[in-house]
Amino acid sequence: MTTSPLKLASRLDPIKPSITLAVTAKAAKLKAEGVDVVSFGAGEPDFDTPAHIKEAARAALAGGGTGKYTDVGGTLALRKAIAGELSAVHRTTIEPDQVLVSSGAKHSLYNTFMALIDPGDEVIIPAPYWVSYPDMVMLAGGRPVVLETREDDDFAVTAEQVAAAVSGRTRAIVLNNPSNPTGAVYTRAQIEALAKVVVEKDLLVISDDIYRQLVYGDAEYVSIAAVSPELARRTVLVDGVSKTYAMTGWRIGYTAGPLPLIKAMAKIQGQSTSNPSHLAQIATLAALTGPQDCVAQMRAAFDERRQAMVRLLRAIPGVTCREPKGAFYAFPNVSSFVGKRSPEGAILDDDVQLCDWLVDVGKVAVVPGSGFGAPGFVRLSYACSMANIEDGVGRMARALATLR
Ligand SMILES: Cc1ncc(COP(=O)(O)O)c(C=O)c1O
Repeated sequence: MTTSPLKLASRLDPIKPSITLAVTAKAAKLKAEGVDVVSFGAGEPDFDTPAHIKEAARAALAGGGTGKYTDVGGTLALRKAIAGELSAVHRTTIEPDQVLVSSGAKHSLYNTFMALIDPGDEVIIPAPYWVSYPDMVMLAGGRPVVLETREDDDFAVTAEQVAAAVSGRTRAIVLNNPSNPTGAVYTRAQIEALAKVVVEKDLLVISDDIYRQLVYGDAEYVSIAAVSPELARRTVLVDGVSKTYAMTGWRIGYTAGPLPLIKAMAKIQGQSTSNPSHLAQIATLAALTGPQDCVAQMRAAFDERRQAMVRLLRAIPGVTCREPKGAFYAFPNVSSFVGKRSPEGAILDDDVQLCDWLVDVGKVAVVPGSGFGAPGFVRLSYACSMANIEDGVGRMARALATLR
């Protein structure tokens, strides 16, 4: 038997394209064709990067030297700033050598799984989950062990569930707090209960904290690494500037963790991408060390939009919506519309078909919950203008009302 020279690697067989990127791309394509579509697909702030951050990059460019490689894991100045901030947030001591700066938090997570996971190793992932975790674990040869959570529990995984899912091959649990897509924020009691299981079962925590500064109302971000020195030693912190400082396109994320892991990740990065963009590292240093009122202003705007979106969604007959307490997504339950017939005569058999129909006919783009391991739900980003929210949720309401 001959194989085609273009035969693709079998490690790609279980890997799906990112559904959020697919929905965003479809909405963007329709818009480019002149179709008036409101998109709630993108997981990025609509704000421009704050002026003082852009100014730092501009000044550095003018000064010269920014076109050069840096240390693979990021400049010492940036790693010092990150180590200082994360030490304070997580009430532990993180040295600059324990920090690796990468090209976005997605890259940080990829390096983490690549450095940790052997074929057959298991990683516990509570669902609804951010789309990329299971695929990254599979790319590393590992097995995602998905634990379903309940809407009535505000989508929090319980310590009992985790304990019951641990096998001889379990290496780690992914904790995304606040959560994309649900906006759920773990309470102190929940974090402490999970921390206990992590120690009892000898696990690592991969803590994806990319939304930790975006919490609203009386919710607070509680760090699992801060529970005890034992937890700090067992936690890999993944963080970045994309969401907090409206810097998605700059592509900077970072990992802080045990030195041997960070060194292993630096080896992978050194043999694949090398340092993240030097100019973006300079902008990130300005973001972390400069004035922080921009964060408070964006958080306040997101909060206002969050409340409006939840109110409008809850007013749609047949839709229920938990209150998201963090990040910038609403995750309503639309299962009562699955299986219904559209005026065009199509039966919308699942949330993917429902979302396809909503964009084609309703001219509003939302992401199907199936992509997050939660069929029957959809995700809407409220990191967009209030006018978009009113217009888009209105379109959704009118379209859904035509289903029989
Ligand atoms: C939960 C979560 N983790 C990580 C990332 C990746 O962020 P970055 O843009 O820094 O790669 C995202 C972005 O959508 C996210 O939602």
